[in-house]
Amino acid sequence: MSNNLTANIIRKKYIEFFKTKNHKEIPSSSLIPENDPTVLFTTAGMQPLTPYLLGESHPQGKRLVNVQRCMRTIDIDNVGDNTHCTFFEMLGNWSLGDYFKEESIEYSYEFLTSKEWLNIDPSRISCTVFAGDEDAPRDMVSYNKWRELGISEENLYFLGKKDNWWGPAGITGPCGPDTEIFYDTGKEKCSDSCSPACDCGKYVEIWNNVFMEYYKESDGTFSKLKQKNVDTGMGLERILSTLSGVESVYDTPVFKDTIRKIEEISNQKYSEENKKSFRIIADHIRTATFVLGDEKGVTPSNTDQGYILRRIIRRAIRHLKNIGVEEASLSTLAKVVVDNYSDWYSVLKDNEQFIYDELAKEEASFNRTINQGVREFNKIVSRLDGNTIPGNLAFKLFDTYGFPLEFTIEMAQEENLIVDTKGFEEHFKIHQEKSREGAKDKFKSGLIDNSEATTKLHTATHLLHAALREKFGESVEQKGSNITPERLRFDFSFNRKVEKEELDEIENRVNDIINQKIDVTMEELTYEEAAAKGAIGLFKDKYNLDKVKVYSVGDYSSELCDGPHVKNTGELGKFVIQKEQSSSAGVRRIRAVLVDEEVA
Ligand code: ALA
Repeated sequence: MSNNLTANIIRKKYIEFFKTKNHKEIPSSSLIPENDPTVLFTTAGMQPLTPYLLGESHPQGKRLVNVQRCMRTIDIDNVGDNTHCTFFEMLGNWSLGDYFKEESIEYSYEFLTSKEWLNIDPSRISCTVFAGDEDAPRDMVSYNKWRELGISEENLYFLGKKDNWWGPAGITGPCGPDTEIFYDTGKEKCSDSCSPACDCGKYVEIWNNVFMEYYKESDGTFSKLKQKNVDTGMGLERILSTLSGVESVYDTPVFKDTIRKIEEISNQKYSEENKKSFRIIADHIRTATFVLGDEKGVTPSNTDQGYILRRIIRRAIRHLKNIGVEEASLSTLAKVVVDNYSDWYSVLKDNEQFIYDELAKEEASFNRTINQGVREFNKIVSRLDGNTIPGNLAFKLFDTYGFPLEFTIEMAQEENLIVDTKGFEEHFKIHQEKSREGAKDKFKSGLIDNSEATTKLHTATHLLHAALREKFGESVEQKGSNITPERLRFDFSFNRKVEKEELDEIENRVNDIINQKIDVTMEELTYEEAAAKGAIGLFKDKYNLDKVKVYSVGDYSSELCDGPHVKNTGELGKFVIQKEQSSSAGVRRIRAVLVDEEVA
């Protein structure tokens, strides 16, 4: 049985079960949240559904089911134990103001225990229920339902907000009491008071049913939502380990091939001594593959999602070194992930070459400095007076050797040392100010700030996209876009080199539109209206948004986008294509700039 098959069986069963209960399947959203600057990654299946939990009507109805790619780095230090991963898949079902507690519990119980479905022994199941406090009453409805289904009193626990309340995902938002379902692994109780609230490993949480009828306000109070919702989440890796009877998610089919590949390249057997590094490598390479392979096309950088991605990739490299692997091997490992997952997530296949290329680039650049960096770190440690690594030295490791701060902290911990993070931040700030000054100098007028420059390049990207489609037809699609204050970079599907004359023609066409000084307008439309208008960039995952923003440049370009853009193309200056090259198989990359002069 291939790895994928086993995970696929569970995914399919879950979707199929909820379809028999009149749920509609919706696709997994991107790992990068849309329109939500407060979170870097999608951390739960409910996140993309927030407007609908608040009362907007969903085009697919009131009962939904899906498998959502999720990422949580809050527990990154626990990766390597039995249950934590930075990337995971969450099986979820939702009632948007339709059924509530009793039906939700009945569905979960039936799916878990029925012979037709997962066939788990009911005596292994324990549940926790919200005990009640000043914000919401004790949840007797859930308790009584579990009792009615046959869960014994001893296997039911009332717990407080810390354990039995979920959400909001950000600072404010929908939330509510939950009932959590645990599987008893059969281990001895660690003490008389051992319960599902304890993390000794006897009880493993497999499913969380949240009854979202509250909204957490910014002042910390709770108000009632317009409707009563159900939001459930079951971690695929956890349920797989439960069903396979293995202790750890890392021993389930989803990781088997990767662990085997690490054994092969390291020439070591996966064992108690090297377990932690093996697991960190397997987890991080899977996460990096999904982030790079995401439809949003994130690349390693020093900010936001790109920084987390860089940190994860570099941490994997460090642990590969720990087990003696010196040669570049991330793409080899990523291929195992792509092979295992792409029949469910075709986006990984679409972006396969991009994933390998970016990993290889990051690996090469980090490998150039990591050994020197480790030597420098050891030097710092050997000369240290006291137990604190000063901020300026941690900054040097970051700036010169590419060691993310967390990385230095982790290495310090292994030596029982701490890092002066405040001092690091001070040096970081000074450095940022200096480089901002440097960037400013690059613009002739010295007046254009970074955000203005990127806004202009963003509009220029839309014009380039439109010009490419005008010239080569509608099979040309955006594959990636990256903008810095200095330049734009645009990846598109096209399977040959773009000739010099063709590039000139495209460049002239963009300058022609700039020269016409056309107004850039924005409309909020429904997905259907946007499609009818012929807007491009209709990404699959967006159809479940109530309204989308469409930016248009007269009749020339119309594209789904969150902006911002300039008001009129006349503001852009002159468009110059600097370079055209291959990005990956079937994908070309154009790099272009805007120079600060009037177009003749
Ligand atoms: N949103 C809930 C969770 O993530 C189901 O656990």
